[in-house]
Amino acid sequence: MSEASASIYTGGAEDLAILARTWARPPGWIGWLSAADHKSIGRRYLVTAFGFFCFAGILALLMRLQLAQPEGHLMGPDRYNQVFTTHGMTMMFLFAVPMMQGLGIYLVPLMVGAREIAFPRLNAYSYWLFLGGGLMIEVPFLLDAGPDVGWFAYVPCPRSSIIPRIAPMSGRR
Ligand code: HEM
Repeated sequence: MSEASASIYTGGAEDLAILARTWARPPGWIGWLSAADHKSIGRRYLVTAFGFFCFAGILALLMRLQLAQPEGHLMGPDRYNQVFTTHGMTMMFLFAVPMMQGLGIYLVPLMVGAREIAFPRLNAYSYWLFLGGGLMIEVPFLLDAGPDVGWFAYVPCPRSSIIPRIAPMSGRR
């Protein structure tokens, strides 16, 4: 063993026991929900992002069906705008970006030889925010109240003078 590696502190048995206790996953559903290890969270990001990808893929199919013939009547212009906006936002913000995040969260600690990602519980919290935020976009869409202002929502598209029903939410006139 070289002198350098001999001087690296690898943790005493007591320290390792404390670490194992601190980061152990409680059994059952509570344990599953409160998991904070980077592999679980990374996997969750990948699976959830793939779910959003499939959902946005169905929206792409709807758009293609609508545009497959002139004067298509599969949906009206308002619903089409919702489908278009939700497809774009979902693909970019709920699929493409989180997919990269999931890969990073899973792989980077393994690549650098770290035991865990920094701030594991913050990492787990961010996953639940991602899931909740994504559902806040998709559920209103399913209730016919989805965003319909273009996927980047450039002004003046999101103004109430153009889309009156968003006024109560945005407070903008
Ligand atoms: C990872 C990102 C994305 C993927 C994988 C994706 C995938 C797709 C696919 C497979 C189609 C069907 C294409 C066809 O029928 O020929 C489609 C259609 C469409 N997508 Fe996306 N999309 C992405 C991002 C976006 C974004 C950011 C927007 C911006 C709003 C967007 C707007 C559209 C529109 C308007 C259509 C209908 C076009 C047509 O079928 O003629 N997409 N998308």
